[in-house]
Amino acid sequence: MRKTLSALLAIVFLIGGVFLCGCNQKTLYAYTESGFPPFEYIQDSKIHGVDIEIAKTVASEMNMRLVVKDIEFSSIAKGIKQDNAIGLGMSISEERAKKVDFSIPYVKDVFQYVIFEEGALETDQDDMVPIEELRGKKLGVQKGSSADTLITKEKDGLFQDAKVRRYENILTATQDIGHSNDYIVIDSLSALQITDNKVGLEAKRIKGLPSESYGIAVKKGNTKLLTNINNIVSRLIEEEQIQKWIEIHSTTSQDL
Ligand code: ARG
Repeated sequence: MRKTLSALLAIVFLIGGVFLCGCNQKTLYAYTESGFPPFEYIQDSKIHGVDIEIAKTVASEMNMRLVVKDIEFSSIAKGIKQDNAIGLGMSISEERAKKVDFSIPYVKDVFQYVIFEEGALETDQDDMVPIEELRGKKLGVQKGSSADTLITKEKDGLFQDAKVRRYENILTATQDIGHSNDYIVIDSLSALQITDNKVGLEAKRIKGLPSESYGIAVKKGNTKLLTNINNIVSRLIEEEQIQKWIEIHSTTSQDL
């Protein structure tokens, strides 16, 4: 009788222990590249940002433990080979959708901006930089980004004779303006964030380019995870939580 009781107690403690410590929790791996404020940035040796908030929410609602992996941007799609992996901070594109599946968009109306030394470029009546101004220039982009794809494709067209300079990290690339590159091309919010508080640098929208949207990437065919993510993301949008996170992280990532 005593034996059965203590065996029973042991089982109860074991289950309780596992439950409390979360030892049986599965891991959700989130792949991203951290030089992209306010969506991902390093502060106090830790990765923060809007995308990290979304990933944390997804992980906690699925009762999973989140592990964020900071890798080269161009390797993110390759990283999402497992069922328990997601990719953060990516524009949805047809090309990428051949390799990964995307969630519903969580940020829309993203445009390509150019970062330049104050006064180095003229804007037009709409306060935008005409593409012609960028022709023949050394344009710094993040390797594998949508700006990289677009400019490389349009080297004989829209961005005639542009020389593409590819960087792993766009924050480093910005320090190189006027040296190994003339200008940097990167998405709106990040461009504005990077130039905010930086004396001598400006960021303006490039005229005439299509808008992009961000989505969370999962392994192709991983509908279970995708459905969960879509439900969570649509709720976050409805509650205007993503917009709130953008505001918060735009303030906290100001002095990178
Ligand atoms: N919108 C661009 C793209 O998807 C740049 C994204 C950069 N993201 C990052 N986490 N570094 O190609």
